[in-house]
Amino acid sequence: MTTPTRIVALVGSLRSDSLNRRIAEALRDQAPEGVVVEIAEGLGSLPFYNEDLDGEAVPTAAATLRELVGNADAVLAVTPEYNGTMPAVLNNAIDWLSRPYGVGALVGKPFGVVGATPTPYGGKWAHADAARSAGIAGAIVVDGAVHSQSALEVDVLEDVEVLQRLQPSSRRSWPSSRLLPEGRSGRRSTHGR
Ligand SMILES: Cc1cc2nc3c(=O)[nH]c(=O)nc-3n(C[C@H](O)[C@H](O)[C@H](O)COP(=O)(O)O)c2cc1C
Repeated sequence: MTTPTRIVALVGSLRSDSLNRRIAEALRDQAPEGVVVEIAEGLGSLPFYNEDLDGEAVPTAAATLRELVGNADAVLAVTPEYNGTMPAVLNNAIDWLSRPYGVGALVGKPFGVVGATPTPYGGKWAHADAARSAGIAGAIVVDGAVHSQSALEVDVLEDVEVLQRLQPSSRRSWPSSRLLPEGRSGRRSTHGR
């Protein structure tokens, strides 16, 4: 029996009736055989990233998130757009996952970002920003694993083809992109401090 590919989903909305949360749940519930999607809970309980808090002891919520992502094969952000970029809750999670510098939980992780908003653009600025930020944090943004879905004229949760487009494991490049060291070093050589 092969080990399943474990994808951790970071949801960028804390709203109880969040469409993006429900998309993440659908991707989890409809994950194909061999793929397990786990939603990272508690992102709203993470304190704002503060280097003063990030010493030998770190807040429990941050340690839990780092461990969850560190043990995953890949990370998928599922997020709406707030004011032309990613919501602060997602940005904050990426900040915690970007440290310790050079060995953060995102380093070397295949990363995708999807989501839907009720606009024609589907949150593409948020998704581009999240992909760029995760890449700077050392993740490997997978070709074709960024998808911004307009929720204006389609029921995202009911349309099988739309959900399929949001499903990261449906992208052929996802598994073969795992752990490409040159992707990581190439990105990190131009960023960071
Ligand atoms: C503070 C705030 C800012 C927003 N800014 C944008 C935006 O820049 N672009 C966009 O497409 N939608 C924007 N929206 C609308 C959200 O995309 C919409 O509320 C979406 O359904 C939220 O996702 P959720 O259902 O997963 O919570 C904004 C919503 C809020 C609350």
